[in-house]
Amino acid sequence: MYIKSPLNYTGGKYKLLDRIIPSFPQENECFVDLFAGGMNVGINVTANTIYSNDQIGYLIELYDYFQKTPTAEVIEAIKEKIEFYSLDQQNIEGYNRLREDYNNRKSPLMLFLLTCYAFNHQIRFNNSFQFNTPFGKDRSSYNASIENNLIRFSTALKEKNIILSSCDFREFDFDKVGKGGMVYCDPPYLITTGSYNDGKRGFGDWTKEEDSDLRALLDKLNDKGIFFALSNVFYHKGNANEELIKWSEKYRVTYLDKRYSNCSYHFKDRDAKTVEVLVTNYAWEEMNCQQMKLNL
Ligand SMILES: C[S@@+](CC[C@H](N)C(=O)[O-])C[C@H]1O[C@@H](n2cnc3c(N)ncnc32)[C@H](O)[C@@H]1O
Repeated sequence: MYIKSPLNYTGGKYKLLDRIIPSFPQENECFVDLFAGGMNVGINVTANTIYSNDQIGYLIELYDYFQKTPTAEVIEAIKEKIEFYSLDQQNIEGYNRLREDYNNRKSPLMLFLLTCYAFNHQIRFNNSFQFNTPFGKDRSSYNASIENNLIRFSTALKEKNIILSSCDFREFDFDKVGKGGMVYCDPPYLITTGSYNDGKRGFGDWTKEEDSDLRALLDKLNDKGIFFALSNVFYHKGNANEELIKWSEKYRVTYLDKRYSNCSYHFKDRDAKTVEVLVTNYAWEEMNCQQMKLNL
């Protein structure tokens, strides 16, 4: 039912959408997907205005291209480029040629094709903003499923009122959101490593400072009567984000893996696993462990 991003984005929330989207307050005038990434969340939301923001400008330029170009034209251009570079799952030279041309020209369509044939479909740049993901030999390619996702995605991009922007989350202008608006945050997680937050890229790193600035921002939004939902992890491979866990006590926590909503689940078991949560500043119907404890 939900639209899947054609980008197979690292950390994408497609598989969790049926847990995340129903939690949002209904009938939003304004919705912000502040860390849009593959835009799996923003593209599936219903609101009069949807703001989609990410610090990776090249990504936002790609969405802008999909939004402005008739979908049939995009598909035709993709097929022409596949032929021109003889792209398939084995042709590493073709992929490398495309990557070199992209790094010289930075065309959004070329970036899309690179993500199709790249290892794990990853979008990764070096400090000079050169795309450097290696070839996904025998694994990655533009295929019928990506094409189908692309058609649904770019159709929705044109039909919905989606406003694109590229800035650091601290620079986003929340005056345009207003009371009763909704801000969804899916930042890099401090205790896990995505290809966009390992500190070796041209784009901003994600450190304790960003984590703490985001929590301060969410407190401010809460004071202004703006709804927020934050995706994050409390525990990952034996690490805990203690500051986040402490801060979340003033709000509502939903464990996205239903097993953790079961209060009999032991904390020592949680330590070994990745425990994904949604922290919201509003109540919603689903009961979870913390709510159940509060009700006792
Ligand atoms: C976990 S991904 C989002 C995935 C997305 N929700 C999806 O379903 O496809 C996190 C995103 O945050 C972006 N990001 C990292 N630091 C940022 C910052 N300081 N300001 C804005 N965006 C940032 C990254 O570029 C990345 O695309």
